Amino acid sequence: MDANQSQLSERHFRSIAHLIETRIGIQMPAAKRTMVEGRLRKRVRALGLADLNAYATHVFDEDGLDGEFIHLVDCVTTNKTDFFREPAHFRFLREVAVPGLVRARRGCGEPARLKIWSSACSTGAEAYTIAMVLADMQRDPALGRFIFSILGTDISTDVLAQAKRAVYPRDMVSPVPREMAGRYLLWPREEGRNEVRIAPEIRQRATFMRLNLMDASYEVDRDVDIVFCRNVLIYFDKTTQRAVIDKLRSHLRPGGYLLLGHSESMAGGPNMAMRQVLPTVYQA
Ligand SMILES: C[S@@+](CC[C@H](N)C(=O)[O-])C[C@H]1O[C@@H](n2cnc3c(N)ncnc32)[C@H](O)[C@@H]1O
Repeated sequence: MDANQSQLSERHFRSIAHLIETRIGIQMPAAKRTMVEGRLRKRVRALGLADLNAYATHVFDEDGLDGEFIHLVDCVTTNKTDFFREPAHFRFLREVAVPGLVRARRGCGEPARLKIWSSACSTGAEAYTIAMVLADMQRDPALGRFIFSILGTDISTDVLAQAKRAVYPRDMVSPVPREMAGRYLLWPREEGRNEVRIAPEIRQRATFMRLNLMDASYEVDRDVDIVFCRNVLIYFDKTTQRAVIDKLRSHLRPGGYLLLGHSESMAGGPNMAMRQVLPTVYQA
């Protein structure tokens, strides 16, 4: 059969689904089958394989489980993101979280140092939005001095490469408020070029690394002030969601915040160690 038309056998779909669910937590019910087949066809073509079932065999051979798995992850993850996505969270940073955290650390002589973690950062729009908001706040003399750093992590190496490059299509940066867009984005000089780059001043605040939220523990500092974990828990089952939230919380300072996506509130409050301050914002 033509590689572009081929389908996964039931057995191969199940083994790939099981691999994805156990290694990266993303649930793969039968309803996702057509989507997964569509996305994997480009790997079948790139590798010159006969069809999707040959691909499934390749994934499980000795090299596949190390090498091809990275590409499989890139294919099955949904990386949709935006600048200023769910803007209420950025208002919360500006009006509540950052002023409170800076105030709490006043009086120690040094400027307060804030650590923020975007824990499923995709192509970096979330991390750079945070950086723009905080850089803008640093200009406010009334607030007190603070410095900040942002860590962006994701399972997909593809999106991490894009985050480091920090180049985005014009359309994508349209939610960035005009003043910030003038200050923190580099607009192309050439007529007709569609790409906008994040300015070095903002890029320098963010570092990116690969991290699987399914790992037993995370190689991240344990004095983080704010963790963003948005629009990723929805792909996990309830047990995994709880385990991830517990692990993320253990990286927060007392008084630090965890921000979830709009459809990801901890409904029923699995984590009694956190106080809900907004529908999707929790404080340690
Ligand atoms: C829909 S994007 C959300 C991006 C951003 N947080 C936002 O809200 O705009 C979900 C991201 O989660 C990542 N992801 C999925 N499973 C993951 C895992 N087990 N560990 C870390 N990241 C994961 C995906 O690669 C994808 O980039």
